[in-house]
Amino acid sequence: MNTSTLSLDQRTREYLLDSLPEEAPVDRMLREETARRRDGNMQIAREQAVFMALLVRMLNARRTLEIGVFTGYSTLSVARALPADGCVVALDRDADVVAIARRYWREAGIEEKVDLRIGPALDTLQQLRNTMEGTFDFAFIDADKINYQAYFDHCVKLVRPGGLIAVDNVLWSGRVADPAETGEDTEALRAFNRHVREDRRVEHCIVPIADGLTLAHILPRTTEDG
Ligand SMILES: C[S@@+](CC[C@H](N)C(=O)[O-])C[C@H]1O[C@@H](n2cnc3c(N)ncnc32)[C@H](O)[C@@H]1O
Repeated sequence: MNTSTLSLDQRTREYLLDSLPEEAPVDRMLREETARRRDGNMQIAREQAVFMALLVRMLNARRTLEIGVFTGYSTLSVARALPADGCVVALDRDADVVAIARRYWREAGIEEKVDLRIGPALDTLQQLRNTMEGTFDFAFIDADKINYQAYFDHCVKLVRPGGLIAVDNVLWSGRVADPAETGEDTEALRAFNRHVREDRRVEHCIVPIADGLTLAHILPRTTEDG
């Protein structure tokens, strides 16, 4: 027995992956194509994709929001977990990389479920606030770290009470815990983690899966929330 969290060696991680439900061939091909890119490590881990898909099913989610699409792996996992009339509103500023995502979404038969919005995410979120407050069941934040706090505050308004916000990379390969690390992204993530801890609009936990995943459950709104 161990009262701490297991740090996975390669053999144990492979065992974990082998013990998960079988991966669809199109998901595997997307992971393999992304892994050949220099920036391929931006993609979420397979075990995290399985976990998020399960959360989305458990929420009976119909509409979800994703900030940071890249080659489309997390979007694909979430979209597949939605019912046939479900929708992922997916935000990214890089039309070139998202072209790869669209190819795989088409192949997987879920392209119709993705409402892709190309542009700076803060601008798109501001537009969504005009008409879609409280209409999302789930949001996933996985883009530039410097804007995490602003993304989170938009998501708290866009996700319905009882819905969930998932936020990637909150443990940042351990750098957030290392006082010698003072890079801009590390500081932004530390500030973000403090922000969520103090935020009375949500209850949260940090799941030490992959690079650390915050889960924030939206509490019923009070008049103080505005
Ligand atoms: C870590 S990757 C997302 C990985 C994706 N969730 C996956 O599992 O494959 C981050 C993405 O955020 C996008 N991004 C970064 N800053 C952005 C911004 N300010 N507005 C919109 N998209 C942004 C990048 O273009 C990149 O595709």
